[in-house]
Amino acid sequence: MSSDPSGAPAPAGAALTVPFAHPDISEEEIAAVTGCLRSGWLTSGPRCAAFERDFAAFLGGGVEAVAVSSCTAALEIALAALGVGPGDEVITTDYTFSATAMSAVHLGAKPVLVDIDPDTFNIDCGKIEAAITSRTKAILPVHYAGLACDMTAIRDIAQEHGLKVVEDAAHSFPATTDGILIGQGTSEAAAFSFYATKTITTGEGGMITFADPAAAKKARALRLHGIDRDVFARYQVPNAAWRYEIVAPGFKSNLTDMAAAMGIVQLKRAWSFQKRRAELCRRYDEALAGLPLRLPPQAPPGEIHACHLYAVRLLDAAPIGRDDFIAQMAKAGVNCSVHFIPLHLHAYWRDSLSVSAEQYPASQRAFERVVTLPLFSAMTEAMQDHVIRSAKTLLA
Ligand SMILES: Cc1ncc(COP(=O)(O)O)c(C=O)c1O
Repeated sequence: MSSDPSGAPAPAGAALTVPFAHPDISEEEIAAVTGCLRSGWLTSGPRCAAFERDFAAFLGGGVEAVAVSSCTAALEIALAALGVGPGDEVITTDYTFSATAMSAVHLGAKPVLVDIDPDTFNIDCGKIEAAITSRTKAILPVHYAGLACDMTAIRDIAQEHGLKVVEDAAHSFPATTDGILIGQGTSEAAAFSFYATKTITTGEGGMITFADPAAAKKARALRLHGIDRDVFARYQVPNAAWRYEIVAPGFKSNLTDMAAAMGIVQLKRAWSFQKRRAELCRRYDEALAGLPLRLPPQAPPGEIHACHLYAVRLLDAAPIGRDDFIAQMAKAGVNCSVHFIPLHLHAYWRDSLSVSAEQYPASQRAFERVVTLPLFSAMTEAMQDHVIRSAKTLLA
């Protein structure tokens, strides 16, 4: 068997290897990028504008979408556009990728970390209010693995304390909460990732959706040096002048048209990717039930889980520790990962925020037990069966 996600047979005797993730790229994405290369317009231009329109239409709810170079950039720009700056505090989760909290630091604000719900690994909504101070400006929840946070609880807290909400939606495209797609006005802004391993990809890339068009306008300037008009309009629109004005301390975080060309096609395939990922999760759930591990939580009835990650937790009864399990799986050709190494365990966060494991017992315990198994829409059943067999051999 092969490590090629297309399922093409490998030479006899070749070992099966399963990557942790693999982008699902068809001839249509290749043609779209080639078309862009031939068009003579490579940086942010008509394809970016079309990608933004398509993304906003996908979500609905009248939101505006602003394309950027990554989710990291999306988080920084979303917070900045909503007025987060020096001296402010932003409440977020300890159990996330560093970019979530670093977005606040780069604006001169301080992230305040909250522990997680031990079942969902999402921010513990019951602990948010205790973290609010007179300097708190925003709440920044992360929809871990693609399962939405309790947005009703988060919005209620934000409303009561006059706070903004920016969602780190890196894992949650497409996912719903209360029947509404994340980013469809579930908060002031949502930041999506199109990194190579995500549910749709442009290699690197991101998108911000805003409920308020004024905030979207600010973000459009912030993503490109703080310039008041986008580069395509300056060069392509008849009578557009060479003159521009800097209206804000902007970033260089625009998306290229080559990436957008790919994104337009990936977006059209997003529901079929989600369906395939959900199917693979169901196969994992069925096959792994009964082993000494805890399966990932399901979305509430009627809600959509983006199924970005399939993260299991080894139980105390497991005959093997987490690190050994990952090492043995790698020997069997299965590449697993860990989501996440919590922020309190990283030197920078530990020292700059004076945080430690005792403050985050749920996050610490999650980290010690969690293993993320390979999951990607191009995964074949033969590949998944190899993952399952390997896990069973180690855990049965
Ligand atoms: C929760 C979370 N937020 C933000 C990011 C950053 O995304 P990007 O690589 O698009 O900047 C990631 C990346 O994996 C992530 O997992």
